[in-house]
Amino acid sequence: MAKSNHYDIAVIPGDGTGPEVIEEGKKVLEAAGKKHDIGFEFTDFDFGGDRYLKTGETLPDSAISKLKKFKAIYLGAIGHPDVPPGVLEVGILLKLRFSLDQYINLRPVKLYPGVDCPLKDKKPEDIDFVVVRENTGDLYSGHGGVTRKGTPYEVATQVMVYDRQMVDRCLKYAFDFARIRKEEGKPGKLTLVHKTNVLTFVGDLWYRAFMEMAKSYSDIQTDYNHIDAACMWTVKNPEWYDVMVISNMFGDIITDLGAMIQGGMGIAAGGNINPYGTSMFEPIGGSAPKYTGKNIINPLAAIEAGRMMLKHLGEKEAAKSIEDAVAYTCTKIKSLSAGKMGYSTTEVGDMVAEHIDGN
Ligand code: IPM
Ligand code: MN
Repeated sequence: MAKSNHYDIAVIPGDGTGPEVIEEGKKVLEAAGKKHDIGFEFTDFDFGGDRYLKTGETLPDSAISKLKKFKAIYLGAIGHPDVPPGVLEVGILLKLRFSLDQYINLRPVKLYPGVDCPLKDKKPEDIDFVVVRENTGDLYSGHGGVTRKGTPYEVATQVMVYDRQMVDRCLKYAFDFARIRKEEGKPGKLTLVHKTNVLTFVGDLWYRAFMEMAKSYSDIQTDYNHIDAACMWTVKNPEWYDVMVISNMFGDIITDLGAMIQGGMGIAAGGNINPYGTSMFEPIGGSAPKYTGKNIINPLAAIEAGRMMLKHLGEKEAAKSIEDAVAYTCTKIKSLSAGKMGYSTTEVGDMVAEHIDGN
């Protein structure tokens, strides 16, 4: 029987533990699909370190036009120990984000019950916010260069670049997102994070655009923090955050901090979102070469990325089923760290899938 909703998903398992965790993620998506009458067709693409080492190719332009036909991409991990740093990250991951104009990097920071939190006395009700990281501009834009290379007078620049429309579209996504969270019973508060006291040009652009847009969102409470203070509050008072909107580089940094306070890379997931095009969902942790092929990596981050993908596709109930099953699994496994879960990668995937089946 044909499923009522059907999705063609591009899959890039990628490097290291990527393929192992994506396998479990697909298992869980299929379980949620079975329960909620959703069909998936997964199409694999072999981009990653192994292909690069064989062919010298990272991500050909032809791949971009193929991938654009999919509503979503499910990505495992990019990064290979035999390839110099930067080649695959820039040539594959960043190329995908930029050429598909995935201008939002959505990174939920949520502490599930039963998960060990490194912050003393912080409980699941204290750690539940979402970082809306701008994903195409800033120090990632590629503006800059080097002169007098190799001399004592070498000059190198890497420029923080934003234009008004990039800032506005990101802010709009963040305000709308805060509004949706408010409808779901969350505080409905949006905090802009930047460094206006030093970055008086780019920071000021973000701040003015934020304050202007806030006028059309009078239902959303707004706040502003400098990035250094935001690092402090994320550790000391994470309960102050509901939605944080932040530029690319600061967002890269604070979301690793966020991943740690929600229990580590074993659970942290993100979505690279183009609201009008092809979005891509991935676990935040890397390819973890030292755990590769051992069936000990935690697949929950990839499973969470799958949950975000379903929610993005509009399958809210199926996403909720996965969330409940992940929450349940977090109370069963000993630790979220690779090799310390008390279960193998496949067993954790099975546990999530079976919980969806049985509920
Ligand atoms: C991330 C990563 C990437 C980034 C790297 C691998 C290019 O750190 O997804 O956070 O800097 O965005
Ligand atoms: Mn990062």
